Amino acid sequence: TNPKTVEINGQKYTTDSWFNVSSTVLSLVSRKLHLQKDHPVAITRKIIESVFPAPTYKYYNEFEPVVSTYENFDSLGFPPDHPGRARSDTYYINKDTLLRTHTSAHEAELFRASASGGYLLSADVYRRDEVDRSHYPVFHQMEGARVWDRAKVPNGDLAAAVLEDLDRLPKHNMKVEDPNPPFHPDRNPLQAEHHTPAEAAAVAAHLKRSLELMVNEIFTRAKTAAAATTPASTTSTSDPTTPSSDDEPLRVRWVEAYFPFTSPSWELEVFYQGSWLEVLGCGVSQQALHANAGRPGQVGWAFGIGLERIAMVLFGVPDIRLFWSRDERFLAQFRGLEDAGLVGLRPFVPFSKYPACYKDVSFWLGGGGGGGENGEGGEGVGWHENDLMEVVRDVAGDCVEDVSLADEFTHPKTGRRSMCYRINYRSLERTLTNRATNEMHGRVMKGLVKRLGVEIR
Ligand code: PHE
Repeated sequence: TNPKTVEINGQKYTTDSWFNVSSTVLSLVSRKLHLQKDHPVAITRKIIESVFPAPTYKYYNEFEPVVSTYENFDSLGFPPDHPGRARSDTYYINKDTLLRTHTSAHEAELFRASASGGYLLSADVYRRDEVDRSHYPVFHQMEGARVWDRAKVPNGDLAAAVLEDLDRLPKHNMKVEDPNPPFHPDRNPLQAEHHTPAEAAAVAAHLKRSLELMVNEIFTRAKTAAAATTPASTTSTSDPTTPSSDDEPLRVRWVEAYFPFTSPSWELEVFYQGSWLEVLGCGVSQQALHANAGRPGQVGWAFGIGLERIAMVLFGVPDIRLFWSRDERFLAQFRGLEDAGLVGLRPFVPFSKYPACYKDVSFWLGGGGGGGENGEGGEGVGWHENDLMEVVRDVAGDCVEDVSLADEFTHPKTGRRSMCYRINYRSLERTLTNRATNEMHGRVMKGLVKRLGVEIR
């Protein structure tokens, strides 16, 4: 049964039947890794901030994670049936209140505050998701935006003002492939009723150069950090006439994307260690957002980036759970970097890996249990894998490295659905004994029966 109220960062909230925040997640709300000195998430934030200088950009790092459903979804133009709103994907406190799923939840508020100029907002965000080495129910995002106001630019010439600002930005030597990918004319159009072609082109160009510069800064640092452990002898033996891979300019590309609150929208990808890595989402802000923020004369762009993902690249951190570790063997490796002006980044040296131990759990989906209320012959109706993930996280926490579906079938006679999941138990900090693992696995199975109404086979 749900608690009637919950307290989050000193503030009390009343729950209702929508409440689905686990105690594990609640216990992480106060951590604020992006504000913890010398934490790799905070260092990553500072590196990105250095590319967007004050006073043009203002920095916000203290926004609370509890927002309204309206702020997180409606204000941004998410349709009522958008899958992101589902209780299987989002942590709700009550029907109208949730833990923000992205930093865009604060766009409207910040557009109201920024007459012209820009901002960066870093914060913890929450998503019910799968369990693997790069997903965690809490992570950190940075949102950035730059806006101009028609009433404030010289001669009211917005396109000229944007181009002038673009001209003042530094250049880079990255190889930009697909600088202008085609975009879907209906789903991702230019906002022709609000922006002249010249304005749209100028804003997009400013957005692209700004974000290319950011990615250049991050990945140049990542390369330098990686080189800090490469023995010097490897360079002296290489052929001096062929440039070493370190001298090769970074390859990036623009890819079309969709967000309800920007149009057109893109993702920026970087070619890193042999594959294309998606780094951020961005676009030209929907004019309706500016208008609803009481600033119809504003035009601008916005982006959002996941900080853990970038920190994993910068420091070679192999597993997202490490960011939450209070283990000195992790934290000490980054100490002093902020005072040193972020100079001297080095890859993380993993401490000894402890053995993994996997256990399978097979079960029949229950009728009526796990969420399906109008269970008319609806075997497995209401089943959502994220609910299982949540039980596993709740019971075994950071002792689980990943969970995967091993087998699934429907009984030919009864029509019942059976699932088998493989849970890989491994602690980052200690060896799990078989006994401890069995005991945890037993509690996971009990939790699945009790909370999802499944029947263990
Ligand atoms: N909020 C988006 C996400 O979480 C990222 C984004 C931010 C996209 C701002 C466009 C503009 O995926």
